[in-house]
Amino acid sequence: MDLGLTGKRVIILGGSRGIGWYTGKLMREEGASVALCARGQDGVDTAVEEFSAIGPGTAFGQACDMADGEAVKGFCAAALDALGGCDILIHNASGFDMAGDEEGWARSFRVDMMAGVIAVDAVRPALEESDAAAITFIGSMASKFYFGRRSSYGPAKAAMRAYANELAQSLGRKGIRANAISPGAVWFPGGSWDKRKQEQPDFYANVEKSIPLGRLGTGEELARAIAFVSSPAGIWINGAHLAVDGGQVASVD
Ligand SMILES: NC(=O)c1ccc[n+]([C@@H]2O[C@H](COP(=O)([O-])OP(=O)(O)OC[C@H]3O[C@@H](n4cnc5c(N)ncnc54)[C@H](OP(=O)(O)O)[C@@H]3O)[C@@H](O)[C@H]2O)c1
Repeated sequence: MDLGLTGKRVIILGGSRGIGWYTGKLMREEGASVALCARGQDGVDTAVEEFSAIGPGTAFGQACDMADGEAVKGFCAAALDALGGCDILIHNASGFDMAGDEEGWARSFRVDMMAGVIAVDAVRPALEESDAAAITFIGSMASKFYFGRRSSYGPAKAAMRAYANELAQSLGRKGIRANAISPGAVWFPGGSWDKRKQEQPDFYANVEKSIPLGRLGTGEELARAIAFVSSPAGIWINGAHLAVDGGQVASVD
């Protein structure tokens, strides 16, 4: 199947490592141009170098903290300039609040929610010009179940899903799709689950056992789901929430 991504222009909020990086790499391999941001300049530079080497098209990066609305606007303007427009916007990074204190709630609100709102507003005129416009939010199965600690992480991801649904209805009229994808536990080298695997091997093994497929997901597996839903091949998917968790959360959406 051809995903129809050749020549498409993709902006990824949080793309120098992890799921965002795997998604950017796959998009480049499928012929898309990619602009990414992350806080760390070194990670941005390395990802741009890696993505540039993949083939024709543009790879652009800029350091930006998504907790800073003005920085998000600046990154989106630079990305639109570098790519000459935008077909696909992917909001990937999270504030990862695991404390549940006031600071954590504020960070979740700024990164998981407001960065998306600000980026959608900044990129929307370009998306309206596209014949394959899609916005994809990377949520978490923590928006569906209590994972054992007080935190704003799950509630922020749930708000993101509600926002995706609102956009699917309002921007759908302008040919712009919006969806949310919720990963379960995902392992990749250097990621949070890789750290847990090394530091808490028993806990990691129990999580593996709890997943019907008997292991954690991988960055590549998440990237394939994100690329399909965001691509022209997924054109009839709008306002959807897709769990990509190997059946980890035993529930019907
Ligand atoms: N991994 C999992 O098991 C899992 C499970 C469920 C849901 N998810 C969701 O999937 C998404 C990606 O997770 P991940 O595990 O791939 O994360 P990750 O490995 O920590 O990578 C996050 C990426 O985003 C960038 N980033 C983080 N905070 C940022 C900020 N404030 N501003 C700009 N860029 C930022 C990071 O670079 P810098 O640090 O340099 O900024 C990095 O490039 C998140 O929304 C997460 O909630 C992941």
